[in-house]
Amino acid sequence: MPQNALLKPVRLGPLDLPNRIVMAPLTRQRALQPGNVPGPLNAEYYAQRANAGLIISEATQICPEGQGYAWTPGIHSQEQVEGWKQVTDRVHRAGGRIFMQLWHVGRISHPLLQPGGAAPVAPSAIQAQADCFVVEPDGSAHKARTAMPRALETSEIAGVVEAYRAAAANAMAAGFDGVEVHAANGYLLDQFLCSDSNQRTDQYGGSLENRARLVLEVIDAVIAEVADSSRVGIRLSPMGTFNDVHDADPTETFSYLLQQLNDKGLAYVHVNKPDWAGGTYEGFDELYRSLRDTYSGTMIHCGGHTAESAEATIVNGEADLVAFGRAYIANPDLAERIEVGADWNALDGSTLYGGGAKGYTDYPTMR
Ligand code: PHB
Repeated sequence: MPQNALLKPVRLGPLDLPNRIVMAPLTRQRALQPGNVPGPLNAEYYAQRANAGLIISEATQICPEGQGYAWTPGIHSQEQVEGWKQVTDRVHRAGGRIFMQLWHVGRISHPLLQPGGAAPVAPSAIQAQADCFVVEPDGSAHKARTAMPRALETSEIAGVVEAYRAAAANAMAAGFDGVEVHAANGYLLDQFLCSDSNQRTDQYGGSLENRARLVLEVIDAVIAEVADSSRVGIRLSPMGTFNDVHDADPTETFSYLLQQLNDKGLAYVHVNKPDWAGGTYEGFDELYRSLRDTYSGTMIHCGGHTAESAEATIVNGEADLVAFGRAYIANPDLAERIEVGADWNALDGSTLYGGGAKGYTDYPTMR
């Protein structure tokens, strides 16, 4: 029997990956409190999944203003850097490789999560019809409608870019193999990219070039900090409507962005179809294929894959690697299961967010 194409090794910048199976970034809301600090339980969870060719960490806030959900980890304090070191150590000792996903939620937040109880920041003062997950002063937490954001002043944008750079420096100091800039799923960078959420009249809004300016500045700053563009990736969700983002012409927007990214020498472009958030994604596959043609580098495809659809994606040349989210939550030994063609454990939807080991580190392996 010919070997499964997902199990063919691949080079990613300076890294040799033993397979093309990626663990997608997954919010699990299990950082230690106070301080949103990763701990030993998180280290165990990631180390259990070191069979992936590459792990991408859960979305991790680059600054306090970047938080939109209770108990998500950060990478802006020394304590967080020390916490993440336990994670990268355990993953590396288990034979794996891990990138950190750098996250700023922009308007997907609430004063209860913001320093000084301030309004969240966004490209424009337009409230999202979306939810975040707030923590009350007494420590209790619940879902809440996102708040009306404040539009960033033009003079503040350099500070946002600087926060990404500093977070990338912290991630590398914590032992990550690289970083992924989260520009998907309706968070800050996607809010700038998409025409509905970005009504700015300065050089960061209006034209296509202006809407893409912040994400490209962030990519340049992160590459300069990491000093090796092949350790920097980016995640995009063209046509995604999660978190109430809508772009008038995703083909135009994302084709332009990928043309600009062609010259950056990135580790990869990671394209995600957020099918778990609903939506029809009519025309997505066609758009994806045109982006694949536009972009000359490595691409990761993510979105509801089975072992069979993932293998076909590689065989057909549609992507170089495939990322699995829900499947990796429920199957710590997913790469081994794919190798032997074993069944997958079912996902327990009730333990996705928050809590402890249950539904986190206790999913059974085959052996
Ligand atoms: C979430 O916490 O719901 C979440 C976080 C990051 C994403 C998507 C969803 O990219």
